[in-house]
Amino acid sequence: MTETSSTEFRRTGAGLLVAVEGIDGTGKSTQCAKLAEWFAARGREAKVLPEPTRGPHGMELRRRAREGRLDAQGEFELFLKDRAWNVGTNIAPVLERGGVVILDRYYISSMAYQGARGLDPAVIQEANERIAPRPDIVFLLTLPVDEALDRIHDRDDHGPNLYEDRDYQQRVAAIFDSLDWPEIVRIDARETADEMQRRMRDALE
Ligand code: TYD
Repeated sequence: MTETSSTEFRRTGAGLLVAVEGIDGTGKSTQCAKLAEWFAARGREAKVLPEPTRGPHGMELRRRAREGRLDAQGEFELFLKDRAWNVGTNIAPVLERGGVVILDRYYISSMAYQGARGLDPAVIQEANERIAPRPDIVFLLTLPVDEALDRIHDRDDHGPNLYEDRDYQQRVAAIFDSLDWPEIVRIDARETADEMQRRMRDALE
């Protein structure tokens, strides 16, 4: 897989690139793990890759999230670096071998989260598509923001900050809602995990 002078990242290999997106609390990680099991049972190499990553830029992002947030532009640039690292180190090799990459968040999260901080989602998309392959299919897990915040509150017991962030989460959700890519399949996260997974597998078939 190589970067070219054109504005679109040139993809090689016969692999499949699946992205799972949505606001916090929609159950993305559970669904990613179940998808990987399903592909593996069908004899395909399948790898779940979360973003932010555990690579150098991903660790910097996590540290920043704890110790004080970057401004929107700085955050966007660091997520872009982390993604470029993930493409080169993890994503491209699996796709070149014909495997399946399941991304637990990808650049649609940058469009939504950094977009919700005032950047233009179209500019974020363009910058990402220069350094990262476009996904073949995007599962966008949907849930009303209040319900998502309740789930996070129950799960992590770090509610107050997130509740204060309700407006931000609403803006994030509004950007996700506004996207009408043909690759996007919306999955209602109010369904059971098994039902969500069934719908995802149906779409892949
Ligand atoms: P999250 O999936 O919650 O990771 P973890 O569970 O390991 O902490 O992602 C952390 C946050 O990062 C989440 O609130 C969304 C945000 N994010 C962005 O702002 N931009 C991006 O491009 C990505 C991938 C994530």
